[in-house]
Amino acid sequence: MADRIRFVLNDEPVELSGVSPMTTLLDWLRDRRGLRGTKEGCAEGDCGACTVVLAELHGGGLRYRAVNACILFVPALDGKALLTVESLSAPGEPLHPVQEAWIEVQVPQCGFCQNGQIMTAKALLDRNPSASEAEIRFQLAGNLKYGGLVEVPFGMTLRELLYDFGGGSASGRPLRAVQVGGPLGSYLPAAQF
Ligand code: FES
Repeated sequence: MADRIRFVLNDEPVELSGVSPMTTLLDWLRDRRGLRGTKEGCAEGDCGACTVVLAELHGGGLRYRAVNACILFVPALDGKALLTVESLSAPGEPLHPVQEAWIEVQVPQCGFCQNGQIMTAKALLDRNPSASEAEIRFQLAGNLKYGGLVEVPFGMTLRELLYDFGGGSASGRPLRAVQVGGPLGSYLPAAQF
């Protein structure tokens, strides 16, 4: 059992104790927190349906990366910030630009896998706002949908979808409280500030 785990979940502080080291993040999100936007597909790290975004301190700022919640154990969250698809747009607020684009051009087919796709795209854009088509394709290769890889209809490239379709801005609502020096900064390792 881990003694204490502190992290930020969608701009809210979380402190846990007595969590089994074998509890996966996917189970914890869905069963304990009721955050069902993170989907379970293969449950073994292959399909990307469970993709969430982790933010970690790196070089004085935050570095974002997409991770598979089904193969990440909850204690690994300590000192990090976690974003699920529920964080992208609050009720009454506009959708995240990636969500808008996905819906508008009907990328998702049945929709089961799209939350994972969107979170992968968000992590990439937060990390590299000028990613190339090749990098976008490489990153999204881990997010499968029915019939194979993510493709955009109407002859668009993925880069056109992410950068051009939404008016050139795809970064969306930033993390508020978790900014370096922000009110939840103490949940990240203080030595790195
Ligand atoms: Fe398929 Fe996690 S559920 S990668």
